[in-house]
Amino acid sequence: MTNCKNNGSSGGPCLTRRSFFLRSGAVVGGSVLLSNIPGLEGKAIAAEVVGYPRKLIGHMSKLRVNKPVPFSYPDDGMNSSTMLVKLGTPAGGGIGGDADVVAFNTLCTHMGGPLAGAFRPDDQALGPCPLHQTTFDLTRHGMVISGHGTESLPQILLELDGDEIYAVGMIGLIYGRYDNLES
Ligand code: FES
Repeated sequence: MTNCKNNGSSGGPCLTRRSFFLRSGAVVGGSVLLSNIPGLEGKAIAAEVVGYPRKLIGHMSKLRVNKPVPFSYPDDGMNSSTMLVKLGTPAGGGIGGDADVVAFNTLCTHMGGPLAGAFRPDDQALGPCPLHQTTFDLTRHGMVISGHGTESLPQILLELDGDEIYAVGMIGLIYGRYDNLES
């Protein structure tokens, strides 16, 4: 149950769990295997991110291991600072031949502390946050390793087209926004 009157769809700060996942792009382009719908077991359906821009953010051939590349996504507004990095080890959501290229929003999910520049290559982590020390694991979808934060870093969904890397969506909510697509 929620007391929210607008369900988060028309500008209010309140979101249901369902609308959060729908609007935060929890579904990525690709296919989903159906397992418990009568008559459709084992069939795949196409799924796609709705509403997010498809933005060219870099080239695979230019990435160097443990050298983050900053960019903005899904827009150029506040809180959209993001980093692309080749970790040199397979990571959740990673693309490329080594499945090691990932991207994350760089605002701490606790209270918005700035994490750009806090990449720790030895641990493949982002942090500690300068405000309350939260550190995030970039190999495990940005989950919290330690500190005050409880939510994973928003991860950027990536696609590879030849040598070009595109941002196509996000998992998780950017700190300070009630909708990732409204800056
Ligand atoms: S704002 Fe980052 S740990 Fe509190």
